[in-house]
Amino acid sequence: MQATILEQSLSTLPLGATRFFDSIGSTNDEALRWARAGAPHLALVMADEQTAGRGRLGRRWYTPPGSALAFSLLLRPESLPAPLLTRLTALGALAVCIALQEHLGLASQIKWPNDVLAGGRKLAGVLVEIDWQGDRPTAAILGIGINIASESVPADNELMFPATCVEAELGSPVDRWALLRATLQALLAWLPRLASADFLTAWERRLAYRGETVQVFTGDGLPLEGRLLGLETDGALRLRLPTGEIQSIQAGELHLRPAGFSQ
Ligand code: BTN
Repeated sequence: MQATILEQSLSTLPLGATRFFDSIGSTNDEALRWARAGAPHLALVMADEQTAGRGRLGRRWYTPPGSALAFSLLLRPESLPAPLLTRLTALGALAVCIALQEHLGLASQIKWPNDVLAGGRKLAGVLVEIDWQGDRPTAAILGIGINIASESVPADNELMFPATCVEAELGSPVDRWALLRATLQALLAWLPRLASADFLTAWERRLAYRGETVQVFTGDGLPLEGRLLGLETDGALRLRLPTGEIQSIQAGELHLRPAGFSQ
């Protein structure tokens, strides 16, 4: 039933192929398996429930049935120059922000590198994983999870950062398949423009905490504190330290927090 509704809703998008699961471990894992079995560029895996959903830095990602969007889009690097692989996380986050704004009128921001925030709380996350053969990337899996209903928001004590969901922010029920379609539409529209200055501008415009003082925990030593100025051309975060020095931060093992944040 859900698969039929979904197929209809996505039928006019130029996807390579689609697979829908009522329940699965992780859509990223399934997309990777399918990639290795020859799935085409823009193949899409979606699930109503994930039992082993994964987030960045090995964290768990909750996708209880009927309450969220969890999907993974397979991109073939022959259709995508290798230097652009680093922009895919931002592409996913940007697509979610555009869909929320244009489809639902909900403002959101990108907490660099991969979170989408609304009202200062996290409502979506992006996990990009690359499959390699030696030093050649053979597939990029762009996984996106969006909290739609309150059941998809984990309990506070399981969170590194406060979370919310689309319905709580809007105060009304949401057609998740229509939001999926809008997100994929935005993603497919920006994919050919990944290398453009416009892409960087669109990403930077939605950057959370821009102009504010933030703390960056890089995992080695004390957190760096500085004013978040924006993005470098390679997508690194640009901070001005209290000494006046400009520091670029590359995505990696880090947590970004507004200054004074405690949890
Ligand atoms: C994060 O915020 O750390 C990233 C979360 C990414 C979750 C999505 S849900 C679809 C896809 N399948 C997974 O197992 N993870 C991603």
